[in-house]
Amino acid sequence: MSKSILITGAATGLGRATAVKLARLGHQIAVIDFNETEGQNTVNMVKEIGAEAIFVKADVANEQQVQNYVEKTIEAFGKIDVFFNNAGLMVPFRLIHEYDEAEYDRVMNVNVKGAFFGVKYVIPHMLENGGGTIVNTVSSNSFKPTAYNGVYSMSKHALNALTKSIGQDYQDKNIYAVGVAPNNMLTNISQSANVTMNEEIYKAIVASTPPNIAATPEEVAEAMIFAMNNSKLLNGSTINCAGGQILI
Ligand SMILES: NC(=O)c1ccc[n+]([C@@H]2O[C@H](COP(=O)([O-])OP(=O)(O)OC[C@H]3O[C@@H](n4cnc5c(N)ncnc54)[C@H](O)[C@@H]3O)[C@@H](O)[C@H]2O)c1
Repeated sequence: MSKSILITGAATGLGRATAVKLARLGHQIAVIDFNETEGQNTVNMVKEIGAEAIFVKADVANEQQVQNYVEKTIEAFGKIDVFFNNAGLMVPFRLIHEYDEAEYDRVMNVNVKGAFFGVKYVIPHMLENGGGTIVNTVSSNSFKPTAYNGVYSMSKHALNALTKSIGQDYQDKNIYAVGVAPNNMLTNISQSANVTMNEEIYKAIVASTPPNIAATPEEVAEAMIFAMNNSKLLNGSTINCAGGQILI
């Protein structure tokens, strides 16, 4: 049966790869991103497959824009069966004391507050609709920080906690949440972190993540779809996609 699936951060990387796979399964996709050009390109890819899609431009850290993307999805598809809370960013690799408030706020506003706003406005519709599934893109940094990545790691630990709390609070209301944790995935997200890269940082990161086998977004998208299809069973837990590098 076709589901209405809302994906944040669907302009590129994992969000796009998952949107395309879900389109092949015949689902309706709401593509949310602040990158309008690539967001529209994802919509075009979904439509070419023959599935329905809308694009809503939004900064997930802006409460009004979050309200708007939820309303636009309800207008287009009548309900939200699955909320894929995926938008995220990184800030430059640094030791914790080297981060300033602006970088701290940037990563927390998007990775944590943006995810909170999303569930805050999606859950009332799921309650009205008799239930739903929330999948959060967490990270191996949700349980094992990589070196020089402390603030990002804090944000992903918080997102893991949000997953558990949704799992706790709504299990009697047919709303289930699952975290999926990519490790090293081949996307462009680390470009913004790499501006501070040097030999010392590189060595520390490699030492903290041996042996660092990268996954493609398409591979991780399969785990996302598994989480969406099995959320009742997996409720409140996280699927670790680190290929054996990190054992939890
Ligand atoms: N690539 C990895 O190695 C890796 C590992 C673990 C977790 N993750 C997580 O996977 C998720 C997807 O990232 P990705 O690797 O596909 O990278 P990506 O940069 O390709 O995708 C992130 C998307 O989020 C969007 N985005 C960022 N900030 C936004 C905002 N404020 N409002 C709206 N959209 C915004 C970007 O435009 C982009 O389309 C992120 O949550 C990231 O933290 C990635």
